[in-house]
Amino acid sequence: MFTNFDSMLKSAYQSRSAVGSFNWYHYETLLGIIEAGRDAGCPVIASFGAKYLTNMDLDTAAALTKVLAEKTDQAVCLHLDHCSDKDEIVRAIRAGFGSVMYDGSKLPFEENLKNTREICEIAHACGVSVEAELGSLAAGAQSHEGSADDRQVYTDPAMAAQFVRESGVDALAVSIGTVHGLYKGTPNIRTDILKDINAAVGAPLVLHGGSGTPEEKLLACIDNGIAKINVNTEISEYVMAHTKALLAEESPHLSVLALKQKDWVREVVGKYIRLFQNRG
Ligand code: 13P
Repeated sequence: MFTNFDSMLKSAYQSRSAVGSFNWYHYETLLGIIEAGRDAGCPVIASFGAKYLTNMDLDTAAALTKVLAEKTDQAVCLHLDHCSDKDEIVRAIRAGFGSVMYDGSKLPFEENLKNTREICEIAHACGVSVEAELGSLAAGAQSHEGSADDRQVYTDPAMAAQFVRESGVDALAVSIGTVHGLYKGTPNIRTDILKDINAAVGAPLVLHGGSGTPEEKLLACIDNGIAKINVNTEISEYVMAHTKALLAEESPHLSVLALKQKDWVREVVGKYIRLFQNRG
């Protein structure tokens, strides 16, 4: 079932669980993510990163996801990850994406708010959910989306509350110490800040940089308002480690390798889905 993320995130937020949002890069990653949701009987978000738009256009991504989503009873949302280009967001909405992330986190507060409000008006009129971001994440190792000059700026709880109230956004991505990619040192996840944000905002929050975050920290985040958790790097790391091990032993036909890679995606995504749902 193809849907937006609104009801998924609201019910996750109320039941103190989280929906996994997993980046996909090609047909096999998309299929592995959808199969993992079906296996677990859970909704899933297939996240399409602007950096991967080069190998598939938005219309194709939407058409493919719709066909696959209609083959399962589980809710599947096609989401446009980090996008600061308003025109591209409108194209994704026209193509049929279920949700979009407008990333104005590098802009001054008022400009980010104004742009997010505009996107919300357009998206909501089309039944599309919107995520925005306040504060920003640093980049860790192996990140395909962070860049070396990304700096950690923690989200301010009072500003987050004003932002959500005045923008009409459905979910807010917060910065509390996770990084895009793998941690270079020991993760310092500020659940104290998250607690204050959640108390001030009272709406679904999003955690970027799920990869490498210790499980108990992820669970503490879910307990404090995180209803959507993004995972990218670890999907690639897991599949590549298995691919390297296989290629060290044998030289399979590409069609065989592609199927195996789809199953490795399904395994690693399934592990996260079970973790995120195993709440109250
Ligand atoms: P990781 O690559 O750290 O899992 O982050 C993914 C993410 O936040 C996608 O937006």
